[in-house]
Amino acid sequence: MAEIISGPEGIALGVQRLHAGGLVSFPTETVYGLGADALDAAAVERVFRLKGRPSNNPLIVHVSDEGMAGRVVETWSDDASTLAKAFWPGPLTLVLPRLPIVPDVVTGSGPTVAVRCPGHPVALALIEAFGGPIVGPSANPSGYISPTIPEHVRDAFDGEDLIVLDGGHCRAGIESTVLDLSGETPTVLRLGVIGAHRISESLGREIRVAEAQHAPEEARSPGLIGAHYQPRTPARLISGNDLPSAPSSAVLVSWSLETHPSGGVLIRMPEDLGGYAQAIYRALHEADRSAGSTIWIEHPPEPSDPDGRAIAAALHERLRRATHS
Ligand code: TXA
Ligand code: MG
Repeated sequence: MAEIISGPEGIALGVQRLHAGGLVSFPTETVYGLGADALDAAAVERVFRLKGRPSNNPLIVHVSDEGMAGRVVETWSDDASTLAKAFWPGPLTLVLPRLPIVPDVVTGSGPTVAVRCPGHPVALALIEAFGGPIVGPSANPSGYISPTIPEHVRDAFDGEDLIVLDGGHCRAGIESTVLDLSGETPTVLRLGVIGAHRISESLGREIRVAEAQHAPEEARSPGLIGAHYQPRTPARLISGNDLPSAPSSAVLVSWSLETHPSGGVLIRMPEDLGGYAQAIYRALHEADRSAGSTIWIEHPPEPSDPDGRAIAAALHERLRRATHS
């Protein structure tokens, strides 16, 4: 039975489980993670099995500070240090050459490891009490919508022996920005709430944003290709102009309408981008549970400020893949 636990008891039980090679789901500021001891290959294999995740898709290692990151990467570079000081704890993942202590299963046998320090008190308390790094892919079956409340995790893994630490509704709501620092030019591999412009500003030089990756053989981050973040109900992205033609069988996810034009289910979204990002996965879970035969998602609002535009680009990438067929 998957079980949701709050407070210090949850942390204590979580630490016991991690030491025993077990799995613990924990909240972060982005989405819930599926945690295991990052240095225990057998425990990490359990994470892959439970998620049904392809073994070539590497996991992010969660740390409580720069010092702990230094235990898994070969060299903690000046860029890494600058960015950690600017954005950690927070939704920025850094990819760096790894040390041999990191099991192959974590990195998909690749030469790099992804590290991030999550900005959530429960995640930090768990990592600190455990005293070592914890892997944490999003706690959803591979390909499905990421979880932003503990009930999403419990319901997805109901029959499993899993504890879920309660941290409420995740604040940012979409996964961290992934930045590759292992090459010459820092390169954003996955868009997130922290925009490339803010990373550039902080480093004082231009960085690259990887093009959308199509073929697996081109991908440095196999998690970044094709269908992902998908509800089981077929979903499509539509423009505001198409909303009036929504049939009642289509569940609408909309920020501009107050009621469904044909009397069906409407899930209202916040108009500000930060609120939209926080709410989107929860809305998709809810839409997927409702009786509609399709989900129509209105394109998110298009803001003009740079931070808003960065979130809009990250959302667009998630929604494109949620509706990819
Ligand atoms: O916000 C987040 O990052 C959440 C929370 C729980 O921390 N975690 C998360 O993990 O989104 P996951 O496994 O769902 O996505 C990790 C992404 C994948 O696209 C994976 O391919 C990429 O990071 N990744 C992991 N290690 C990598 C590496 N060494 N090089 C390149 N990409 C890597
Ligand atoms: Mg994921």
